[in-house]
Amino acid sequence: MRLQGKRALITGAARGIGLAFAEAYTREGARVAIADIAIDRARAAAANLPGAIAVRMDVTRQDSIDAAVAEVEQELGGIDILVNNAALFEAAPIVEITRESYDKLFSVNVAGVFFVTQAVAKGMIARGTGGKIINMASQAGRRGEAFVAVYCATKAAVISFTQSAGLNLIKHGININAIAPGVVDGEHWDGVDAEFARLENRPLGEKKRLVGESVPFGRMGTAEDLLGMAIFLASPESDYVVAQTYGVDGGNWMA
Ligand SMILES: NC(=O)c1ccc[n+]([C@@H]2O[C@H](COP(=O)([O-])OP(=O)(O)OC[C@H]3O[C@@H](n4cnc5c(N)ncnc54)[C@H](O)[C@@H]3O)[C@@H](O)[C@H]2O)c1
Repeated sequence: MRLQGKRALITGAARGIGLAFAEAYTREGARVAIADIAIDRARAAAANLPGAIAVRMDVTRQDSIDAAVAEVEQELGGIDILVNNAALFEAAPIVEITRESYDKLFSVNVAGVFFVTQAVAKGMIARGTGGKIINMASQAGRRGEAFVAVYCATKAAVISFTQSAGLNLIKHGININAIAPGVVDGEHWDGVDAEFARLENRPLGEKKRLVGESVPFGRMGTAEDLLGMAIFLASPESDYVVAQTYGVDGGNWMA
């Protein structure tokens, strides 16, 4: 019960890694707000978690962010933990990347992280209680990938924002850090696999098999592999940890 009595908002928590974090934080004693554009899935997820609520949030729209944060602060009485988890992935060769794809990914993956952080931090500062903010970066933010230029650039921006915002907000007792996963199996990677099947002319499932084999640990990650770091960064044990990005990737990036 390392998060007993805490209130957490997790964006993009209707499925995948965000949902696994919501389940883990609930087990650790927190009340969780599952914020997602996919509100039906968010409601179904919240219905299975004691004390959880679902809230509609589109992280690309300021009015939606402001309304959702106000609703969560009202329903839960405040926000102690924010996980900026919502993100989109698209792959294409450089000469085929569209401005629409570029704008969409930067709007969700970067502007979403900036402005949800800002909205939640204002409340944390006003309440004087401090807080924990965890940004979902990626190994993709630490190096290039031939077909993944835009997603990689968005995740590099998340790592950079974590550094600047972490330095700016620690004086208010707000710790901002990030997690950089490697390859995490789930619905997200089903989509990635399908994109690479098209781009590299592979059978479905082959890309997943190859990336799993290349992880030094010996397999793809699961959302459960990230839970220790997600709980640590949300708990008082990480009070002296500021502006860091932690790889939790089975050694993938280092290799
Ligand atoms: N799965 C991986 O291999 C992997 C690797 C590295 C980093 N990550 C990062 O971890 C995080 C979670 O990944 P995942 O695999 O669970 O992804 P996912 O695609 O399964 O889930 C993303 C969630 O974000 C929501 N979302 C999308 N656009 C939104 C918007 N505008 N507003 C609010 N919510 C929105 C979706 O509805 C979905 O529920 C992401 O930031 C991702 O980039 C994932």
